[in-house]
Amino acid sequence: MKLIVTGGAGFIGSNFIYYMQEHHDYDILCMDALTYAGNLETLKEAEKNPRYSFVKCDIADRDAVYRVFEDFRPDVVVNFAAESHVDRSIEDPGIFLQTNVIGTQVLLDACRKYGIKRFHQVSTDEVYGDLPLDRPDLFFTESTPIHTSSPYSASKASADLLVQAYHRTYDLPVTISRCSNNYGPYQFPEKLIPLMIANCLANKPLPVYGQGLNVRDWLYVEDHCKAIDMILQCGRDGEIYNIGGHNEMANIDIVKLIVGEIGKSEELITYVTDRKGHDLRYAIDPAKIKAELGWEPETKFADGIKKTIKWYLDNKTWWERIVSGEYCEYYEKMYENR
Ligand code: NAD
Ligand code: TYD
Repeated sequence: MKLIVTGGAGFIGSNFIYYMQEHHDYDILCMDALTYAGNLETLKEAEKNPRYSFVKCDIADRDAVYRVFEDFRPDVVVNFAAESHVDRSIEDPGIFLQTNVIGTQVLLDACRKYGIKRFHQVSTDEVYGDLPLDRPDLFFTESTPIHTSSPYSASKASADLLVQAYHRTYDLPVTISRCSNNYGPYQFPEKLIPLMIANCLANKPLPVYGQGLNVRDWLYVEDHCKAIDMILQCGRDGEIYNIGGHNEMANIDIVKLIVGEIGKSEELITYVTDRKGHDLRYAIDPAKIKAELGWEPETKFADGIKKTIKWYLDNKTWWERIVSGEYCEYYEKMYENR
């Protein structure tokens, strides 16, 4: 089996490469443009496997993508490559459309041209928009209408529609997964959990947007990887699968929990101006993937968050290098007068 993993130098893609190396004997090619979010250091253990290779390639660069497909001839393509941060999409939407929409289209065209057994699109629960805070009975199912809020979610929803169109029009074998918020090792410290851990360790303020009451549905990254693997093995062509573990928490509770685990003072918590268009609540109904594929999350949040904090403590050089680089300028811009 020959597998292309796009965006494999990012958070979930790298965890997926490690997961697949552990559970299968595939030829894996990581295709990544190495944007600010891609880090080859993350993959240094994966590189020891002789069946692993890497190519630096922008998924929106048609000629380059076709060359990679021509050489490697993949059976399966899993597309993680994306601009993934909502706050950045609010600042500058253009690159989100370029990578997330045009990039996906180029990959779909390459899949048509060279033939594949499966194209899997890694999407997000954010395509469903948000749910009200006072209706805990409501969840996103696969038939919840798309109703996006941010340029990020709009670009991901557009990509999903293209994937479905290529299935219907060209019979391309595709699947789509829509997962809730992930956490775990190798997550770039601009997202809530790793940012709070890194700031806590550095005794820096913990910037909570608004009142911190927005709710996210957290899943340990390895459980997401396992779900995608199961979809590749047994998922039905043309289908969408929601992935989530019924673990909803308000942001402020996550931040307080991290502060407590690390043993710092809650005085570090600083309430800052809310995100524009901030989605209130995400909550996945995972009934379909459970019933059809038997997937269930294995890691409870209480254990996963401890493992994650320990990972950031044990791997300080990994994130300190990031925090000291270009990311610093981004951080100043996003938080200085907030
Ligand atoms: P990430 O930002 O950590 O990684 C993205 C990777 O894609 C990076 O390695 C980057 O270099 C690469 N990339 C960006 N533009 C590229 C381009 N034009 N060509 C090739 N590579 C490019 O993102 P992540 O959190 O690992 O998310 C991966 C995927 O999962 C995304 O599609 C995202 O929408 C989806 N997703 C993420 C979450 C989450 O909680 N992080 C939840 C659900 C779905
Ligand atoms: P984030 O990790 O950016 O994921 P998403 O917006 O895609 O769900 O943010 C998770 C939640 O945490 C979201 O409600 C915004 C909030 N948040 C903060 O309060 N402070 C921060 O510094 C960040 C990055 C996020």
